[in-house]
Amino acid sequence: MTEKFRPRLHFTPSVGWMNDPNGMIRSAGYWHLFFQYDPDSITHGPMHWGHARSRDLTTWEELPVALYPDDLGTCFSGSAVETPEGEVKLFYTSHRLDGEGRDFQQQCLVHADLGAGTFDKDPGNPVIPNPGLVAFRDPKVIRIDAGWVMLVTEGQTVGFYGSDDLRTWRHLSSFGEGEGRHSDEPWECPDLVPLTAPDGSEVWMLIIGVNPGAYAEGSGTQYFLGQFDGLRFENLNPPETELWLDHGRDYYAAQTFFERDPSGPPVAIGWASNWRYAKQTPTEAFRGVMSLPRALQLVETQDGLRVAASLPDEVRKAVIGSDDPAVQLAETTIELGERQVLSVTLFGEAEPQFMIERPAPDRVRVRTLRPEDPTLPTFGHDYDVTSPWSGPLPVMVLMDHGLVELCAGDGRLWLTNLFYPDAPEASARFDVWG
Ligand code: FRU
Repeated sequence: MTEKFRPRLHFTPSVGWMNDPNGMIRSAGYWHLFFQYDPDSITHGPMHWGHARSRDLTTWEELPVALYPDDLGTCFSGSAVETPEGEVKLFYTSHRLDGEGRDFQQQCLVHADLGAGTFDKDPGNPVIPNPGLVAFRDPKVIRIDAGWVMLVTEGQTVGFYGSDDLRTWRHLSSFGEGEGRHSDEPWECPDLVPLTAPDGSEVWMLIIGVNPGAYAEGSGTQYFLGQFDGLRFENLNPPETELWLDHGRDYYAAQTFFERDPSGPPVAIGWASNWRYAKQTPTEAFRGVMSLPRALQLVETQDGLRVAASLPDEVRKAVIGSDDPAVQLAETTIELGERQVLSVTLFGEAEPQFMIERPAPDRVRVRTLRPEDPTLPTFGHDYDVTSPWSGPLPVMVLMDHGLVELCAGDGRLWLTNLFYPDAPEASARFDVWG
């Protein structure tokens, strides 16, 4: 596909609107990616679940639409699991408006056969009826030793439910009041996944979508690190600590793939857009793109444990091996002195888009610069992020037809940003000043 602004290695639907990744699961040799989808327009309409699968995380085969709206409503975000017996179940939020025009959301179960491509909604839906909350959505189901746990956002907190049979759920606890970043709008798209700390201990990562009011304004993906005992999540950091999986403008609603028998670190994908302008981006047949998959691991820093993301080997190889001139990976490692600045200029533009400096011997600061774009209101941006770092600094910039994923350091500091340049194929320039 040679369409303008259609990334090659990042998943996009052939036509229609796409937002959040849904139902991500690795099963029978495939990575399955479902997604919030309106096949009939390029704006957020009645939500379906689109479906694609990949063997290598970069070549995606788009499959028929998996879930259609029904009497209970449209199909909002959710997740997938595979039981020990090999049955695949999807969970999504049915969404409609009540008599007073307010959102009415409930959790629903689907019996899936991924090989046959069949998706049968459970006749007993909803499996969790609405408990009187306006925002009650985005079920993420995980497997623990004692059974199943579902996370659902309930306004400004996330609710935890437990089940033995994936059908009958009981409320266990809630997390979030006064913790991390909040806005006036509900939290969205939770995920919970165990990671292994460098000392071998298990630490749980809780992922939450914040919109608006995220790090780079608009929507963004924050995370918490903590203990999870099967009943409740306990934050390891002080409640005011704010951690972001990506500090760019375009990384939202990230989820990890469910793997019945995980063979490596969890792999996450985010929606590479921002609700501030997602409906106005200048593409034609389709609108919406996913980030590249990233493997997540814990690293010890001077501020404590943090999550570092890296490209899985196969993804990195696909980027480097691409014969498409607008798919590029540019890397450098620099000894950045305290008075020096590294600028990163992309697409042959006159002004750099990123400036990287060392405000203190043990810190790195990345500043994002972007002039106001008259075709995209609220798209301009100037902000910075500082993170612990000492020693030579690796910088990686990955470009795919204007979508940029920049990583500075060891994977704690990612920025994903959409650009719509005149020359998406022009390469990155690194200049050290000062
Ligand atoms: C997040 C979100 C979810 C919701 C879906 C609707 O981007 O608002 O909370 O389920 O999008 O498409």
